[in-house]
Amino acid sequence: MMDQPSNLLLKLSRRLFDDATEQEKFIDALIHPQPFHPCIVWGREKRSPFKIEPPISWQPYFVDRLSFGEKPGQHPLHNEGYYYCLDFSSVFAAMSLLAVRSPINTIFDMCAAPGGKSIFAWRALQPQLLVCNEAISKRIGMLISNIKRCRISPVIVISKDPGDLKQIFCSSQLVIVDAPCSGQSLLAKGSKLPGCFHPNTINKNANRQKRIIANSAQLVAPQGYLAYMTCTYSVEENEQVCEWLLEKFPQFQAVDVSELVEYQSQLTNLPCYRLFPQSKLGTGAFTALFQNTGVGEVKNLDVEMLQQVGIRYKLNDVNHTDAEKKVVEGLFIGNNF
Ligand SMILES: C[S@@+](CC[C@H](N)C(=O)[O-])C[C@H]1O[C@@H](n2cnc3c(N)ncnc32)[C@H](O)[C@@H]1O
Repeated sequence: MMDQPSNLLLKLSRRLFDDATEQEKFIDALIHPQPFHPCIVWGREKRSPFKIEPPISWQPYFVDRLSFGEKPGQHPLHNEGYYYCLDFSSVFAAMSLLAVRSPINTIFDMCAAPGGKSIFAWRALQPQLLVCNEAISKRIGMLISNIKRCRISPVIVISKDPGDLKQIFCSSQLVIVDAPCSGQSLLAKGSKLPGCFHPNTINKNANRQKRIIANSAQLVAPQGYLAYMTCTYSVEENEQVCEWLLEKFPQFQAVDVSELVEYQSQLTNLPCYRLFPQSKLGTGAFTALFQNTGVGEVKNLDVEMLQQVGIRYKLNDVNHTDAEKKVVEGLFIGNNF
């Protein structure tokens, strides 16, 4: 825990808020971390073993905020895969997915591990196929474990650099980019992140985000969507990445997320939404949704190519129906697991 805000944090607070009281509240939330309510996304029918907080107006019906003291990760229903535990900030970030006009055939999650947004998207939009990509191979194990536990299917798990997916251009109705970032919001729950406000850290992340979002944009089918989100506060990693995307790919258009209108970012004219830790709901998040207004052929997702890079997911311990097994076993291939 910091006692005094650094100059870089003070500078950021002045950039984010005109109002001195908001600046103080923001800084206070970061230097004096407070607990946030635990939160779960139900992947299956809801049960009621927990004491829950009254839902807030935009909270999806399949999300519960739990009272302090509840430990959902330790309940047997967790092992049975009824729900996934995540921060309410992640729910906020994933809310842009609810502005997607369904039905959605294919969802491609570019930065998927450990799986929170994938599971939220699968639950909210019920796609015919979910592709979870995680570039960092050592993070694949936890992704597969969460997907298996929550019985998400049909799903393909791959581990590719976003630049190596050219074979599947224009093939997904929704691409999710929950980008690696400087992670500044983690300070609000007490994590130590030296250097997270430093311009070098921010620039390095912003450049990586631009590379990831540019490669991701090319996978979006005509009329399909691209969702961008981070868990950091800096403008360079958020609004400026969105503005850059629209300059580079003018066929994309930002989409309003009506549920989040009161969280509109004051740092851009685009519909971009921010949650701050002083809201007491979560540590903080940024989210925006874009639609590819281009017309043209929607390419079929090259499932064969994905089969070549996909990772086998063993079904033995998952209670799928025979019909589900057929679909899933047809899609998972590889020999790493
Ligand atoms: C914010 S986390 C994703 C969290 C996940 N979407 C969830 O909700 O559980 C960002 C992910 O991007 C991955 N990543 C790191 N470098 C990357 C790169 N160059 N390209 C794509 N993804 C990368 C990280 O390993 C990390 O798993």
